Amino acid sequence: MFFARTIYPLLSLLTASFASLDCKVSPADSAWPSSDDWAALNHSIGGVLLETAPVASSCYPGNPFNSPENCTDIQAQWPYSAYHAAWPESIDFPIYTNNSCIPKGATGWSKSRGCSIGGLPRYIVNATRLEHISEAMKWASQRNIRIVVKGTGHDLNGRSTGAFALSIWTHNFKHIERRRAWSLPGRNETDDVVICGSGNNWGSVYTAVHRQNRTVVGGEDGTVGLGGLIQNGGHGFLSSHYGLASDQVYQVTVVTTDGRVLVANSAQNDDLFWAIRGGGGGQYGVVTEFVLKTYPVPENVVMGGFSFYAANSSTNGGTASWNALSEVVSSIPDLMDGGLNGNVTAYTKTSAMALGLTEAPPGVAAIVGFVGLNMTTGHMDAIVDKLAARVASIGHGSYLNISQQQASTQNYWSFVKPNPLSSNSAGAVSLMTSRLLGRRELSDIPQDDLKVYLQQALISENPDSGTMLLFGLQGGRGPAKVPKYMRGSVLPAWRTAYTHTFTLGASINATGDPSESLKAGADWYEVAKEPVWRNWAPNTGSYMNEGNPFSSTWKDDFYGKNYEKLLAIKRKYDPSESLFVWSGVGSDLWNYDLKSGLLCRVKR
Ligand SMILES: Cc1cc2nc3c(=O)[nH]c(=O)nc-3n(C[C@H](O)[C@H](O)[C@H](O)COP(=O)(O)OP(=O)(O)OC[C@H]3O[C@@H](n4cnc5c(N)ncnc54)[C@H](O)[C@@H]3O)c2cc1C
Ligand SMILES: *[C@@H]1O[C@H](CO)[C@@H](O)[C@H](O)[C@H]1NC(C)=O
Ligand SMILES: *[C@@H]1O[C@H](CO)[C@@H](O)[C@H](O)[C@H]1NC(C)=O
Ligand SMILES: *[C@@H]1O[C@H](CO)[C@@H](O)[C@H](O)[C@H]1NC(C)=O
Ligand SMILES: *[C@@H]1O[C@H](CO)[C@@H](O)[C@H](O)[C@H]1NC(C)=O
Ligand SMILES: *[C@@H]1O[C@H](CO)[C@@H](O)[C@H](O)[C@H]1NC(C)=O
Ligand SMILES: *[C@@H]1O[C@H](CO)[C@@H](O)[C@H](O)[C@H]1NC(C)=O
Ligand SMILES: *[C@@H]1O[C@H](CO)[C@@H](O)[C@H](O)[C@H]1NC(C)=O
Ligand SMILES: *[C@@H]1O[C@H](CO)[C@@H](O)[C@H](O)[C@H]1NC(C)=O
Ligand SMILES: *[C@@H]1O[C@H](CO)[C@@H](O)[C@H](O)[C@H]1NC(C)=O
Ligand SMILES: *[C@@H]1O[C@H](CO)[C@@H](O)[C@H](O)[C@H]1NC(C)=O
Ligand SMILES: *[C@@H]1O[C@H](CO)[C@@H](O)[C@H](O)[C@H]1NC(C)=O
Repeated sequence: MFFARTIYPLLSLLTASFASLDCKVSPADSAWPSSDDWAALNHSIGGVLLETAPVASSCYPGNPFNSPENCTDIQAQWPYSAYHAAWPESIDFPIYTNNSCIPKGATGWSKSRGCSIGGLPRYIVNATRLEHISEAMKWASQRNIRIVVKGTGHDLNGRSTGAFALSIWTHNFKHIERRRAWSLPGRNETDDVVICGSGNNWGSVYTAVHRQNRTVVGGEDGTVGLGGLIQNGGHGFLSSHYGLASDQVYQVTVVTTDGRVLVANSAQNDDLFWAIRGGGGGQYGVVTEFVLKTYPVPENVVMGGFSFYAANSSTNGGTASWNALSEVVSSIPDLMDGGLNGNVTAYTKTSAMALGLTEAPPGVAAIVGFVGLNMTTGHMDAIVDKLAARVASIGHGSYLNISQQQASTQNYWSFVKPNPLSSNSAGAVSLMTSRLLGRRELSDIPQDDLKVYLQQALISENPDSGTMLLFGLQGGRGPAKVPKYMRGSVLPAWRTAYTHTFTLGASINATGDPSESLKAGADWYEVAKEPVWRNWAPNTGSYMNEGNPFSSTWKDDFYGKNYEKLLAIKRKYDPSESLFVWSGVGSDLWNYDLKSGLLCRVKR
């Protein structure tokens, strides 16, 4: 009796799902649920299950998936992030869906690709209730089906999509409620918070709290969502003052893949709470609600800065421009300690024509854009004057063309007010590499060394096009002074970083096979750029939301010393390993092949 009871289930497991033990199931497997099974799931979740129907289907003969949208409109809307956010399946950067169904003329389109479900998820839960998510994930994880989570679909590396997956779409969790005196779990105090459904984007939260004369730490772009930005760290206008978005969380509600609904805060499920605050989106469960700290509205926003480029094609101009960039970059930590944020962006070759030039200048060109809160324009002008004068003296008055912008002031709302039309870089290919840089890397090294690193970091695969290198002034005192109990699992290097610095430069073949094009791009970064970061900043790391997920050192880059602890938490809350994302914790045990669509365990 004893044997019959234990061996029988074991045998059936081995025979019925042998293949699926190695891979998440796909429609080609006998273990894939029948349409009746899916219908039963649909019934159990109140009919909110959608069969994936790519919106651009109407751009193909016969509109194979019955898209309700006019193709002309789709083509016009394709660059807008807000458009992709509005559709259950669409994401900003479709190379990560294997370009499965994109409108004619879009980046990556070619005549032969056609329109298929391909790299898109198979089914999508248009959830409006916790039970929709818990029931659907329990069902899918028991059947060895991959689960992905989409909020807005902004992810720069395809982490909100996946072939043959069941997708949980959080878009309709849109509640927002401000509480002036919310009791902090486990602490004898209250704070002013906003309780937000994870389907909100920053624009909707900024708008709601601004009506109550408050603000929050979120992203710069209003169309970005809470889910991915917070869980991967999150920088924005206020991060250099108050810390990252993940440093502002008092509580989350999380649905796990085995169907539990957990409230996590510093008094309960605190391991999960720690992981959610910076340890990666789409990995531990589905967050449905965040409780976020709010702040007073800044009195004003002051902007100022200048740009420079080599005045002519003499070598003096080129050399002076690199020296000038080194001078500016090495000043960043002190300027940030003085209250500035913003960004410094350097461009080479034809990409430097972004400054409005008619031909590529020698050396490097840069735009220095500072932002200050609660500041006078006079104060900003004085800072910019001083720095611009140092740059001018490096240019001996004539090697560099410098154009200074007089400081201007505006109210905070006009600065943060969401403008979805400005978020229009979707539909492109996305693959970047980045590094967090601290005082050691920016100010404490000889400027000659700094100059060499800057030149190396600005290498581009196509030597004529050049590339860009952006220093986001998003760290500094804000992240450094966040109290310990507010810090989750965000990469510790953020506490000493001043800038989140990213660059492009790989020439990615947009019309090639997506898996091959991405691999070629990643291989180039691995040889040309990652070594520069590792030499320049060996002990820092990279911002997970805007980094290179294919870096060979991704564990150190994105998680640092938190990796093993996060892996244990991942195993505890997602024991079926239903949630996979590139460079997620434990993702090295799996191989996601965009070509076959299969997600399989790596054979050891
Ligand atoms: C135009 C643009 C501007 C940007 N500006 C900024 C900026 O100012 N600051 C900044 O820090 N970053 C910025 N980013 C990067 C941005 O933070 C990431 O793209 C981020 O992943 C977006 O999160 P999302 O939820 O909107 O996107 P999604 O693609 O929906 O999700 C991103 C990841 O989080 C997971 N996820 C989303 N919601 C949940 C949830 N509720 N529960 C569990 N997992 C979830 C997804 O599975 C995926 O892995 C920008 C990106 C773009 C495209
Ligand atoms: C789920 O049920 C609803 C309502 O009955 C229906 O409209 C929808 O098409 C169903 N979804 C799937 C995938 O069959
Ligand atoms: C699509 O919409 C545009 C206007 O938005 C219209 O001119 C065009 O005829 C429409 N095309 C189809 C196929 O309906
Ligand atoms: C991905 O695209 C390639 C062509 O580039 C195709 O051969 C492959 O079948 C596609 N895979 C999926 C899962 O769509
Ligand atoms: C998703 O659900 C919401 C809320 O019920 C509904 O308004 C919306 O039409 C649904 N979206 C799709 C694509 O079915
Ligand atoms: C809680 O704080 C209040 C004042 O802030 C204090 O009077 C009270 O003793 C504290 N209670 C505990 C249990 O610490
Ligand atoms: C908003 O809050 C600030 C301080 O937090 C206060 O000075 C100001 O008067 C408030 N404005 C309104 C309209 O309530
Ligand atoms: C700006 O000033 C307001 C009003 O005095 C204050 O409440 C707020 O904390 C200040 N913000 C910053 C970032 O210094
Ligand atoms: C850089 O700063 C400028 C303003 O100076 C702003 O318009 C732009 O959005 C910023 N870019 C990024 C990527 O932060
Ligand atoms: C570039 O500028 C320097 C300094 O003004 C000048 O001496 C030189 O002749 C210029 N070269 C060219 C090619 O215009
Ligand atoms: C650079 O500035 C000088 C004067 O300062 C001007 O004569 C020259 O036309 C400028 N060069 C360009 C390319 O704008
Ligand atoms: C991009 O890939 C396509 C398809 O493989 C190929 O025909 C084309 O030559 C490639 N382009 C470049 C620039 O490599």
